[in-house]
Amino acid sequence: MDQDITLVSGNLQSEDHNENSLRPRRFSDYIGQVEMKENLQVFIASAQKRKESLDHVLLYGPPGLGKTTMANIIAREMGCSIRSTSGPVIEKQGDLAAIVTSLEPNQMLFIDEIHRLNRVIEEVLYSAMEDFTLDIMIGQGPSARTIKLDLPHFTLIGATTRTGLLSTPLRERFGIPLHFEYYEPEELKQIIIRSAGILNVQIFDDAALELARRSRGTPRISNRLLKRTRDFADMKTGGVITVEIVNETLSRLGIDDYGLDKLDRRILKQIIEIHKGGPVGISTIAATVAEETDTIEEVVEPFLLKSGMIRRTPRGRVVTEKAYEVLGISMPGYF
Ligand SMILES: Nc1ncnc2c1ncn2[C@@H]1O[C@H](COP(=O)(O)OP(=O)(O)OP(=O)(O)O)[C@@H](O)[C@H]1O
Ligand SMILES: [Mg+2]
Repeated sequence: MDQDITLVSGNLQSEDHNENSLRPRRFSDYIGQVEMKENLQVFIASAQKRKESLDHVLLYGPPGLGKTTMANIIAREMGCSIRSTSGPVIEKQGDLAAIVTSLEPNQMLFIDEIHRLNRVIEEVLYSAMEDFTLDIMIGQGPSARTIKLDLPHFTLIGATTRTGLLSTPLRERFGIPLHFEYYEPEELKQIIIRSAGILNVQIFDDAALELARRSRGTPRISNRLLKRTRDFADMKTGGVITVEIVNETLSRLGIDDYGLDKLDRRILKQIIEIHKGGPVGISTIAATVAEETDTIEEVVEPFLLKSGMIRRTPRGRVVTEKAYEVLGISMPGYF
């Protein structure tokens, strides 16, 4: 994969390894997702008042929008500890049993990529979530029997980029489903200024806004681009990030004025040139640009939809007039 494409993907990359230092720890540092925060504060206060565990929470939305961060904040605000695991790690019923039976009352269990749990495990989770009991099968064949274990009351926090892949019964067992929206430029600007403070770099207000505008509505990308512009600033202005530095860095990285990267533009161009503007299915698009269908579906498509470059139709994706405009290609039938 080419470096520029990697840079703008919302997925976690190796260069985000020190992401933790930039991670907000409390609601007060968590910028944006205002409605979600307000609702959560009410649910948390009321659970605390009743001295009960918080209802199960499902966090869903594109990569890099703050799901893991939010899971940790919820635990901290509840005053509970959190155990973290992820869907692909839990392979057998016994793995899940070992985790849930060792939880403390009111503890939080965070399962990242919960859409990747296999169906058998999912079914075991149903009773754990609903009745705080665990039915496990012991033995095989005629001598097989199930035993029922009582569990402490815990809160499951599930995170997923793909709620469509979650089975309906599992989805319905989450009392608090929370959808993450892309961030507005003004919110990302605040995130960038906060991160710049932590990283000890100086950035002008207008430079922060320009970075924000071109970060695909995604805090992880804002933070990553901030680090790259800092590198250029170190070389050119003794470390101060100006609008000129932002423009130069982003143009070198192949990110255009709309925040589209090379992969986005390549996809739009292929839909126009090869598929006559669409409709075309996601897997065909992925094959045309030689990318994983998952990447296109989780990272690229939601942003292109949100920025009005493509539309979804029952027969597939079609590019919009705006996409022709952005690419500087004239629309068929227009002169
Ligand atoms: N609301 C926010 N305010 C400030 N910083 C944020 C916010 N949301 C996310 N971030 C920053 O973006 C980074 C990525 O967030 P996080 O890891 O929580 O995303 P995610 O939704 O869990 O992504 P993935 O789907 O890849 O697991 C965090 O390290 C944090 O620094
Ligand atoms: Mg995460």
